[in-house]
Amino acid sequence: MKQKSNSTKAPAKSRKSKERFRSTLDNMLEGCQIIDCDWRYVYVNNAAARHGHRKPEELLTRTMMEAYPGIENTELFSVLKQCMEERVPRLMENKFDNPDGTTGWFELSIQPVPEGLFILSIEITERKLAEQKAQEQLANVIALREIDLAILSSFELKTTLDVGLNQVMARLNVDAANVMLLDPATNILKYAAGRGFRHQMIEFCQLNLGEGHAGRAALEQRTIHIQNLKETKGFLRAALIEGEGFISYYGVPLIVKRQVRGVLEVFHRTLLTQNPEWLNFLEVLAGQVAIAVDNATLFNDLQRSNAELMLAYETTLEGWSAALDLRDKETEGHTQRVTAMTLELAKAMGMNDSQLVQIRRGALLHDIGKMGVPDQILLKPDALTEEEWGRMRMHPVYAYDMLSHIAYLRDALDIPYCHHEKWDGSGYPRGLKGEQIPIAARIFAVVDVYDALTSDRPYRAAWSTEKVIEHIKSLSGSHFDPRATGEFLKMIEGKR
Ligand code: C2E
Ligand code: SIN
Ligand code: SIN
Ligand code: FE
Ligand code: FE
Repeated sequence: MKQKSNSTKAPAKSRKSKERFRSTLDNMLEGCQIIDCDWRYVYVNNAAARHGHRKPEELLTRTMMEAYPGIENTELFSVLKQCMEERVPRLMENKFDNPDGTTGWFELSIQPVPEGLFILSIEITERKLAEQKAQEQLANVIALREIDLAILSSFELKTTLDVGLNQVMARLNVDAANVMLLDPATNILKYAAGRGFRHQMIEFCQLNLGEGHAGRAALEQRTIHIQNLKETKGFLRAALIEGEGFISYYGVPLIVKRQVRGVLEVFHRTLLTQNPEWLNFLEVLAGQVAIAVDNATLFNDLQRSNAELMLAYETTLEGWSAALDLRDKETEGHTQRVTAMTLELAKAMGMNDSQLVQIRRGALLHDIGKMGVPDQILLKPDALTEEEWGRMRMHPVYAYDMLSHIAYLRDALDIPYCHHEKWDGSGYPRGLKGEQIPIAARIFAVVDVYDALTSDRPYRAAWSTEKVIEHIKSLSGSHFDPRATGEFLKMIEGKR
């Protein structure tokens, strides 16, 4: 009322200046609008109407609710309401879904005025989208880094593939993803890992190279995209798609050093919107998965050839030890028997697996040093002379000289080098005493003497088991470690 009476009294000069203000406001780049206390538009400049995808005349004299049905339920409206009621200014960012499906972002400055509210709006869509894009790119880099870390910290392909597929699902927003690996021997693609499938059927799918979409991606070494799986014919895993309800499909070959290792497949239950950046990231992720596969394959190949080499060594060892028995005219299977008994005793005494490996090798080779003892001494049917004994007592030293140069056998030396040491220090070659003698040799010594005495030798016939057991008992604490003797006797009693 007061304003109106002012304006009627206003001189012409003032009216002219008001018109200039008005025209400036109308054409400003920022949106300007005034809403009265009943939410009716009383002023809307061109920019404000444009921001709302409306013409000014579509808004003026209408209420906000009439112009934008449903606006009462938005965050924008609750902020406006608060400003209106409490008469306080506010700044806010508002997201506006355009009728054409695009999204606009605006920075709003809301100011209470006598008529109601004055709203200044600045479009910030470009900045917002750039921010969003930067955030997505960062998340993508983090995703790649996660896969990197998985590759670096695990040789288990399954683990790495799981990490990779989790990132594929999360970053690409697809319903399901899996990796098929190419078996180079048969050229068959086999399921290796998957995520998001409702049924297990995918796990049993196999495709020949060139067969189906995946087989084609692998053979042609290119990404295969199927817009709508339901429209394609000759779909080999049709039953799978039927049960899963998939629509969109991408198959990306996993290529490392120009070799195809498999295919990364992604499935979606609705149409996937085409987007070059999405596709690019899918291919980057596939590259990463390919590296993981390559890495694990290298590791497995190395492990396999290591295992093959080990087997060859072990076979060689057994061959050597059989040759030694032959020369020694040992009774059939002496070395096999003492090796088996020594391992059993060592286990009973709590030795671990890697110690057992060395003990086994040492037992197989325990008398390898006798290779340095001439036949006329080794096979002599009588007692040895002092000189002959001197030579015979060198056999553990010969073993040391032979084996210490072989890295693979160095840790197995305890038995060949120390099996004639005695608990009381009266043994040879070094006269070690008690626990100075390696535990493996203390265990072995009991077994070796037991087996020697229960067998025929060129210089005497076999003893009875009773006599041998009595003999072993009598040497506990002098020749033998009492603990090893006790355990050994328990073991032998258990067998009788
Ligand atoms: P080996 O025949 O394999 O015997 C291993 C160990 O079993 C012997 O170590 C000894 O501790 C025990 N042992 C074997 N036979 C007898 C035995 O008749 N009586 C007793 N009390 N203990 C026995 P040792 O004594 O250091 O001998 C090492 C190797 O020297 C023997 O290996 C064998 O090849 C040779 N040797 C030992 N005594 C004689 C012998 O009287 N004549 C000949 N030709 N060789 C012998
Ligand atoms: C790991 O580092 O995750 C274990 C290594 C392996 O898989 O052998
Ligand atoms: C698949 O590779 O099996 C899916 C597509 C097809 O079967 O052709
Ligand atoms: Fe010996
Ligand atoms: Fe022996």
